[in-house]
Amino acid sequence: MSSVRIGKLDEIEEGGHRIVAIDKFEVGVFRHSGKVVAWENRCPHADGPVCQGKIFNRVEEVIDEAKKHVALRFGDERHIVCPWHGWEFNLDTGLHPGDPYMKLKRVPVEVRDGEIFVEVPNRR
Ligand code: FES
Repeated sequence: MSSVRIGKLDEIEEGGHRIVAIDKFEVGVFRHSGKVVAWENRCPHADGPVCQGKIFNRVEEVIDEAKKHVALRFGDERHIVCPWHGWEFNLDTGLHPGDPYMKLKRVPVEVRDGEIFVEVPNRR
């Protein structure tokens, strides 16, 4: 693994993200809720560019005691939606909400002296 500087923290606003290509390896770096997280820009479904998807709060179904639909509401979890087929992933955990075996690949990320570094596989 190699540590690669991808830019300054203040170049990504809160709630924003940046997608960076380091040779053929692409990583999405997201800044939200006071944290910085990074995911490989490759969807576990069919290798789509998942980090280019829209981000919104998870949609939850409200049901009553009889298990009948009452309403839809936005929850607290932030999700990213893959632009190819719409699969969703939790922005913090990388997990698909319905299948714990489907998840994004986390890329180690660190902020040092206001600069963002990601750990990427060694180039060949
Ligand atoms: S490639 Fe991402 S949902 Fe299909």
